[in-house]
Amino acid sequence: MTRPFIFCHMLTSLDGKITGDFFKSEKAKSASLQFYNIAFGKDPYYKNQGWLSGRVTSDDNFTFYKEPALSANYQPVPAGDFISQVGAEMYYISLDPSGKLGWEKNTISYRETVATVIEVLTERVSEQYKAFLRELDIPYIIAGKETIDPQVTIDKLQTYFQLDSIMLGGGGVINWSFIQAGVCDELSLVLAPVADGNPDTPSLFNAIGGQADGKKFADFKLIESKVLADDALWLRYQVE
Ligand SMILES: NC(=O)c1ccc[n+]([C@@H]2O[C@H](COP(=O)([O-])OP(=O)(O)OC[C@H]3O[C@@H](n4cnc5c(N)ncnc54)[C@H](OP(=O)(O)O)[C@@H]3O)[C@@H](O)[C@H]2O)c1
Repeated sequence: MTRPFIFCHMLTSLDGKITGDFFKSEKAKSASLQFYNIAFGKDPYYKNQGWLSGRVTSDDNFTFYKEPALSANYQPVPAGDFISQVGAEMYYISLDPSGKLGWEKNTISYRETVATVIEVLTERVSEQYKAFLRELDIPYIIAGKETIDPQVTIDKLQTYFQLDSIMLGGGGVINWSFIQAGVCDELSLVLAPVADGNPDTPSLFNAIGGQADGKKFADFKLIESKVLADDALWLRYQVE
């Protein structure tokens, strides 16, 4: 079985930042819509079946740092993965290694796209949190002991949900962990002609903790470059 095609699709400022005040600029708003149309929208270039996001990205955009509503009287949870919602049109796959995210329903909306949530957990996650996910009918897979193993994640997504094309959708921490693990085929970068000079915001790739012990750098080979509307650029690279 060949593994799924994994492409990292990101919108950045000229200085490689992925969030910040620059998003308020009209040029960034235009780039953001074009970014959406490349991988979502009515006739996207990439036909992805789901996108992977880090825990911080999920909290910033969808769960807003709410505490999960855990029940003290939860039902005992069988060991292993919880596979549900097979055959959904689109998935939002959220890496949540210790089970922090306070979901309130099992779907999210991004512009016109509605996606079914899948949680990727480690063995550290409590039975109580897993019971909470089951209650919301949010499928989960366990993909590592302490930290999430990108290869195991991809294998399980393909086996259980038949995903053959998956977008790696940020932020910088998840992106770098997948690049380091060698499971990202292509980088698609929409570069907005903006900057805000903030030294503290995350960038396209960020190594954290133990991840810094792995591969020290990555090389990319340019496949295509295209000028988009309002001075944005679309760059496609093969990950070498
Ligand atoms: N411009 C764009 O295209 C774009 C796209 C997506 C996101 N963003 C922005 O990016 C920002 C967040 O980026 P970020 O780099 O700070 O964080 P992130 O990658 O969204 O999330 C990092 C967290 O995800 C978990 N994680 C990721 N990879 C893991 C792995 N291999 N193993 C275990 N855990 C893993 C950890 O969760 P724990 O902390 O729970 O351990 C880690 O701290 C947000 O503001 C978001 O809006 C921008």
